[in-house]
Parts: sequence; C-alpha cells; structure tokens
Amino acid sequence: MLDLNGKAAFVTGGASGIGLALGRALAEAGCRVMLADIEEAPLHDALRGIEGAGSDIRGVVCDVADPASVEAAAKKTIAAFGKVHILCNNAGVAAGSGIDEISLDSWRWVIDVNLLGVVHGVRAFLPHMRAHGEGGHIVNTASMAGLLSDGGMGFSPYSASKYALVAISEGLRAELQPHGIGVTVVCPGFVRTRIAEAGRNRPARYGAHAASPRTAAVADLVRTGMDPKAVADRVLAAIRDDELYLFTHPQYREAVETRFAGILAAFDQIEGKPR
Ligand code: NAI
Repeated sequence: MLDLNGKAAFVTGGASGIGLALGRALAEAGCRVMLADIEEAPLHDALRGIEGAGSDIRGVVCDVADPASVEAAAKKTIAAFGKVHILCNNAGVAAGSGIDEISLDSWRWVIDVNLLGVVHGVRAFLPHMRAHGEGGHIVNTASMAGLLSDGGMGFSPYSASKYALVAISEGLRAELQPHGIGVTVVCPGFVRTRIAEAGRNRPARYGAHAASPRTAAVADLVRTGMDPKAVADRVLAAIRDDELYLFTHPQYREAVETRFAGILAAFDQIEGKPR
C-alpha cells in the first residue's frame, strides 16, 4: 500500500472539476501538490480556495498539448519538491458534433490535449520517477467513454482519445510494475464539472469552438452528475491499493458486458476454423 503522506504530486487540469478535487484530496492526505492548468485566473482562484488543505500547494500555468510547456512545468515541480511521486494526467476537453461534421481542428485539439497531453506528462515525469527509485503512481483520467463508444452522441474524438488512454495505461502498468510505479486509469460516468464548457480554454491555434446541440444534451447530464470529490476519494483509494481500473458509475456495467460479449461472440465465429 502506497503511503501518500509526505509524497509530492503533479495534477493537470487542476484549476477545476476533478483535477481540483484531486489536488485538494491529495493535499489533505499529506501530499505536496502542484496544480497545473492552462487557465491562469481560475488556477489562482483554485489555489486560494484550497490553501489550508495541506502544507505546500502550488500552481503552474501549463498547456499539456505543448510538450515544452509540460517539460517546463515538470522542471519547476521537481525544483520545488525535490522528488515527484504522483503524476495525475487529468486535463481534458471535449468537442461535439457528428463524425462527418466535426472539424479537423476540433479533432486535433481533443487529441492533442486528451491523448498527447498524457504522453507529454509521462515523458516529462517518468524518467525522474524511475530515477529516484522511491516508487509512485500515475493516474490517467480517461472516462466511461474509454470503454464504450459514444453511441452516436457525436463525441467521437473524445471517445477515441479516452480509448487510447485505457490502452496506454494498461501498457504502462505492465512496464512500470518492476519499478514500483502503479498506474490507474480513471473511467467515470458524468461528473458535475465544467467539461461541457471546455471551449472556454480552446487555444486560438485550433480555430473557433463551435457549440453544438449535442453539447447541450451532455451539459444536462454533467449538471446532474457525480460530485467530483467522490471521484477524487476513489482515486486516492486506487492509488493506495494500486488498482488499475477505476469505475465510479455501476450502471454502465451492463453496457460494458454487452460490448465484451460482442467481442467474444466474434471470436466464437472463428472457433475451430483453420489458423
Ligand atoms: P473541467 O472543465 O471542470 O476541468 C478540466 C480542466 O482542464 C480545466 O481547469 C481546464 O482549464 C483544464 N485544461 C483544459 N485544457 C488544458 C490544457 N491544454 N492544458 C492544461 N489544462 C487544460 O472538466 P473535468 O470534468 O474536471 O475534466 C477532468 C477530466 O475528467 C478530463 O480528462 C475529462 O475528460 C474527464 N472526465 C470528465 C467527466 C465529466 O462528466 N465531467 C466524465 C469522465 C471523464
């Protein structure tokens, strides 16, 4: 069991929602915490809001889509804390529309933040985490959309990025076990955050954010979603107990079973056929 007390953590998307709740929970568990976010003013507000939750909570402005920005944030964090043990790749965005309508700029934005953002985080911190030899944990925030395609809701780049995070996490898990570094992939259903307003921090290089009627439907589900604190509490338990898959919404079990049953049925089709 990993003892969080006295460890140092880096949390992306730390100014809002699940990242902010995670930062607070880690601080309350005795971690020194660096919150990283692309949005400067909300980051400062977040820091003001959680000062007092732990001994050393800091912030860094960082765009996870930009490898140089993540490298710089990692250097700053390691300089501040000496060693970093917990890496939470949590920042994420969503853009919705039909798969044939969504712009390539929107694809690039979602993939750059949700998928490459995690790759950048791992590349910036993992060599350091391996080198200090004290072990640790990597948390990748995927989604239930990482195991179930969006069923035509029009969030295909989001779902593609989150499926990729499940794959990356499973691979990292096997690779990092000998180093005492655990991996958790967080797969929540709807959580009460600002994800439906993700366009608020879309950099100009990805063009304008087009709101879609599908976003409004999802916004309603997010508004009545789970409290981010409940997700954060589960993440801390998963870090301590080294759980790979973290689910928060049991109602999706049946849909996951149906998906896997379909995959197994396709294998049944080739049972006994020549290889
Ligand atoms: P949120 O919008 O409240 O927080 C996301 C944070 O990420 C924001 O503070 C935002 O400024 C930051 N961010 C966006 N782009 C960034 C970038 N390029 N670099 C650094 N920071 C950036 O949303 P939420 O829900 O807390 O999102 C956190 C994670 O949870 C995301 O990966 C999301 O996909 C995932 N998730 C959310 C669910 C929900 O229903 N809210 C469900 C399942 C997964």
